[in-house]
Parts: sequence; C-alpha cells; structure tokens
Amino acid sequence: NTTYKIAVLAGDGIGKEVMPEGLRVVTAAAKRFGITLEFTEFGWASCDYYAQTGNMMPTDWKAQLSGMDAIYFGAVGWPDIVPDHISLWGSLLKFRREFDQYINLRPAQTFEGVRSPLADRGAGPIDMMIVRENTEGEYSSVGGIMYEGTPNEIVMQQSIFSRRGSDRVLKFAFELAKTRARKHVTVATKSNGISISMPWWDARAAEMAGQYPEITWDKQHIDILCARFVLQPQRFDVVVASNLFGDILSDLGPACTGTIGLAPSANMNPERDFPSLFEPVHGSAPDIYGKNIANPIAMIWSGAMMLDFLGGNDSDGQCRLAHDAIVAAIKSTLATGPHTADMGGNASTTEIGVAIAALVTDAA
Ligand code: NAD
Ligand code: IPM
Ligand code: MN
Repeated sequence: NTTYKIAVLAGDGIGKEVMPEGLRVVTAAAKRFGITLEFTEFGWASCDYYAQTGNMMPTDWKAQLSGMDAIYFGAVGWPDIVPDHISLWGSLLKFRREFDQYINLRPAQTFEGVRSPLADRGAGPIDMMIVRENTEGEYSSVGGIMYEGTPNEIVMQQSIFSRRGSDRVLKFAFELAKTRARKHVTVATKSNGISISMPWWDARAAEMAGQYPEITWDKQHIDILCARFVLQPQRFDVVVASNLFGDILSDLGPACTGTIGLAPSANMNPERDFPSLFEPVHGSAPDIYGKNIANPIAMIWSGAMMLDFLGGNDSDGQCRLAHDAIVAAIKSTLATGPHTADMGGNASTTEIGVAIAALVTDAA
C-alpha cells in the first residue's frame, strides 16, 4: 500500500479557512477508499511568515518539498503587509517554475443548484477545461526600468515563448480533447496585435493540430474569446491559452458558471519529476477573511483533483474512486444546499465542509 506524502501550505487569508475543509474532505475520502495519506503542514509560504522573517519561505524550501508527492495549497497574498509581486514570486510562482508545473488545468462547469449570471441565456450547460501554460509567456522576470525618475523613463518586460514550452501545453490540450465527448480545442491568441510571438504561437498550434485529425479546433483572438465566454460559453470544450490569457479566462469561465468560489486547479508536472500543486483558482480574499463565509468547494475540488493525479493512470483505482466520490458529494451539496454567500446562501465555510465530508463518508 503506497503512502502519499502531501505538503500542506494554507497561505494567507481565506486560504487558512478553506484549507481545513479541504483536508476534512480529502481525509474522509482517503479513509473510505483505503488510501494512506501523510500530511505535513508548513507554516511558511505566507505573508505572516514574511512579516516574521523577511522572506516568504526558508532557504531550503525546495529540499523540504522535493520528496513530496503533491502540494496542497490554499492562497497567498496579503497586500497590506507584502506587495503582491513579492509574495507571489516568493511562493506560488516559484513552485510553478522550479517544479516545472507547466500545465495549469482549470475546469469550469455549471451545476444544478448554482445560478449562473447568464442563466437566462437559455443555452446548454457549460463544461469546459481551461489549459493554461504555467511557466513562461507573459510571466517573465526579464526586463527592467531605464532612465528612472526622468521624463524619458521606460519600462520593458519581455514575454518568452519557447517551442518546447508551447508545444507541450498544446499537446496536453489536444490529448485532453481526445478524452472528451466534443473533442474540440479552442486556441486563445492575439496574433492580430502582438505581431511576433502570437503569429508564432498560432503556427505552433496549427502544427500540433495537424497531428490530431480527429480533433476539431479553432483559434480566437482573446478579446472576442472573452466576449464569447459570456455570450456562448456552452460552445467551449478545451481552451488552451498562454499564461496571462489563461489566467484571465480561468476567472471568467467560473464567473460565468456562477462563482469563482467553486473553481479548482491542478498545477501539474505530468512527468512527475517534481511534485504537482493543487489549489483553488481564487486568492486570499481579504475582503471576506475572518468571517468563516468563504466557499470551500474550490479547495475541496482541488483536493479531489490531487487524489486523481496521485492515482496516476490507474483509472479504476481507489484514488479515482475517491475523486469521483468527492465530486459526487460536491454536486449533491450544490443541488440541495446548504450554500455559502457567494451563491446566495448563508452557510458557513465549516458547514459546507462538514456536509460534503459527511456525504463522502456516508455513501460507504
Ligand atoms: P481573490 O480571488 O482573492 O478575490 C476576488 C473576489 O472573489 C473577492 O471579492 C473575494 O471575496 C471573492 N472570493 C474569492 N474566493 C472566494 C471564495 N472561496 N468564496 C467566496 N468568495 C470568494 O482575488 P483578489 O482580490 O484579486 O486578490 C486578493 C489577494 O489574493 C491578492 O493578494 C492576490 O495577489 C492574491 N491571489 C492569490 C492567488 C493564489 O494564491 N493562487 C490567486 C489570486 C489572487
Ligand atoms: C492564479 C493567480 C496568480 C496568477 C497570481 C496570484 C500571481 O491569479 O493562480 O490564477 O496570476 O497566476
Ligand atoms: Mn488568477
């Protein structure tokens, strides 16, 4: 029997409130399906740690995390104490990069019981997978400020797209589409305006698409793509995008389904050379922290994705069953309530976690 080692990093703000519920449900599912999990909680990768030490993480963070099978991550950011680019480049963005978690997989789906702001559009359900490039593109540290403080001051920041980095995320998207009913990939681009990198990206996409004759595909400029997320979200299946475009689409997609409080994500190193990281799409939500009203479902669903990933290709295994049991419990809770405030209810964070954990356990 394998023991899976999981690093737990709750982070800041509501990360600290939703993490206990994620752990509650993941633990319940592991117990039911006989999966052995060993959790190690770390107090760093948080702005509180920064306030005490002047760093987001200890210098040996990589050694401490390298032997882990997965990282379960809440949210980082408390801009009153630490500027966001310092806290995020000192934690989450470092993990994505140094652990080569080049796929950020972010589902967005409608569920019975969750009112979409687009509910009156009268079209079919939303069920899309956003595949976000997670290690390069617009998120680069190459650049700087020149002539600072003078009227000639300029700032430059390079976007970097590598052939290897683009091809691997495009390939992942086409492979994912193979496993889905509609078998369609939409490639986000902006090759009309961003005249060097984006035409190049389009060409990489076209070449990849050529290897998948059974998959239909199209490319759309990011501006109209955003509009169509709102106007016709049901038409999307797999959507693949650069780091920044994927970031934007992965808040927009879940917002169209009702709330970003549901949206999970898997930051994956598919080769398993490094631990992968599972976290909600949302951040630390300082505006609601401390009230126990945050929706924990994004954290819980991310935990389900973590179990599924840990199980690997063993699609009949206990990890897959644990994933499916959690998702079923989420669906049933969404359909019947209780709901948190982001969905118009008045249940607490804890109540939702307890309700979902009970469903996961009772079904045994
Ligand atoms: P945010 O996602 O934290 O919050 C945006 C809005 O959504 C807020 O009104 C918040 O109350 C609401 N919200 C978010 N999660 C919710 C949940 N689970 N239940 C109910 N409502 C929820 O985004 P922001 O306000 O732009 O950022 C706040 C901080 O979080 C910043 O420091 C930012 O850098 C950081 N951040 C971190 C991550 C991450 O760690 N992955 C992601 C996004 C933002
Ligand atoms: C996300 C977040 C991060 C990102 C921020 C906090 C740096 O918005 O995970 O979507 O832009 O990737
Ligand atoms: Mn984001």
